Amino acid sequence: MARVRTAYVCTECGGRNSKWQGQCPHCGAWNTLVETVAAAPSTRFAAVAGAAGEVRPLASVVTRTEPRSATGLEEFDRVLGGGLVPGGVVLLGGDPGIGKSTLLLQAMAAIGATRRALYVTGEESPEQIAMRAQRLGLLNAPVELLAEVQLEAILGAIRTRQPEVVVIDSIQTVYTEALESAPGSVAQVRECAAQLTRLAKQSAITVILVGHVTKEGAIAGPRVLEHIVDTVLYFEGDTHSSFRLVRAIKNRFGAANELGVFAMTERGLKGVANPSALFLSQHAEAVPGSCILATMEGSRPLLVEVQALVDPVHGGLARRLAVGLDPQRLSLLLAVLHRHGGVESGAFDVFVNAVGGVRISEPAADLAILAAVYSSIKNSALSDKSLVFGEVGLAGEIRPVQRGQERLREAAKLGFRRAIIPSANRPRHAIDGIEVVPVARISDALEHWRR
Ligand SMILES: Nc1ncnc2c1ncn2[C@@H]1O[C@H](COP(=O)(O)OP(=O)(O)OP(=O)(O)O)[C@@H](O)[C@H]1O
Ligand SMILES: [Mg+2]
Repeated sequence: MARVRTAYVCTECGGRNSKWQGQCPHCGAWNTLVETVAAAPSTRFAAVAGAAGEVRPLASVVTRTEPRSATGLEEFDRVLGGGLVPGGVVLLGGDPGIGKSTLLLQAMAAIGATRRALYVTGEESPEQIAMRAQRLGLLNAPVELLAEVQLEAILGAIRTRQPEVVVIDSIQTVYTEALESAPGSVAQVRECAAQLTRLAKQSAITVILVGHVTKEGAIAGPRVLEHIVDTVLYFEGDTHSSFRLVRAIKNRFGAANELGVFAMTERGLKGVANPSALFLSQHAEAVPGSCILATMEGSRPLLVEVQALVDPVHGGLARRLAVGLDPQRLSLLLAVLHRHGGVESGAFDVFVNAVGGVRISEPAADLAILAAVYSSIKNSALSDKSLVFGEVGLAGEIRPVQRGQERLREAAKLGFRRAIIPSANRPRHAIDGIEVVPVARISDALEHWRR
């Protein structure tokens, strides 16, 4: 095949060079030049943007509602915002061995029943895929397999087979002849993803790219794909436990931060319909240092147990350690507890943990963290079957959080009888089965826990 002219573009300033150099001659930055196809920027997205140079009023553009097609895996559809969109490009990232290929094989088997599905494998041989399919009970699934890593051959196969959904497992193994750099390099990954995206938009094919997370934690190097694709999904979970979370980091066709919960079994990934039960540990009775938090994961309320342990400092500085919660926020909350609640924790090491490997970043966890810490300092359990949420401000006030009602309803459904919540979140109408204790300041909450 004829070689395409390549250029080296600086990732800092966008300056172009005909040859590679350690330092960019335009901006002086080091190691920022990456190989790219010289003519690419002007042609790559031409088909996506429409006829070139045509200016038209916004009102004249005819809109269409994106028809979504469900994959058949309910939890996967939830994170996708309802299903796959024709022409949509999805990036599925995650640590090695977490279950990316398993999830996509299951999804493709379900999709294949009604639409043409093509699974391109660059990492595993067709035999390995068949062995996985056998284990999952999907050996006779109507999925077409292609073991190929060369981009031009993959694009050719897509054009002749005309599938509606294509999986590329993984984008790091694919390379284009047009570039000299090695497969998996930033230039290769970016160019291959851009070309696949262009074909997806032109032919209304859904493309799902599997992306490995590099050691630095970014997908395929410095997040090079996130802005090219429509949807970014990220697999989370502890490989030691069987639970896997798929989170939407970005979604042009639906809400971001949506969460799908799965359990990894010998027969593949099974959706978990009631994930709250999973993050609550099964204590026979209430124990000190434990508190139940109602958090929101995307559009879904989730009950999670927050645990705290305080232990006298044995020489040196007091330690503050948070697993699944924000460690800096922990220090801040302990200062508020001292200043506005009069509860001293400086003589203790403080450890907090969100049970079940879930990561909580919203400030609604503040009050629950303080409740667990206070309970551990006093070595006395909070009352059983009660839950807590609320943001704590530096002035000691308890601030309202979003979607208080939904959190309360989820708690009531799971048998909780009492909720300690910000007074501004007090529901207008009583929620069946749950007594609401509104608190305006940290001192109000402490008064309640002291009883
Ligand atoms: N017999 C089995 N029983 C239960 N779980 C299994 C079995 N075989 C494999 N698994 C699970 O499947 C996981 C591998 O899944 P999969 O190959 O889909 O991951 P991946 O994310 O595609 O990995 P890679 O990064 O290597 O491509 C294993 O880590 C394990 O948890
Ligand atoms: Mg895999």
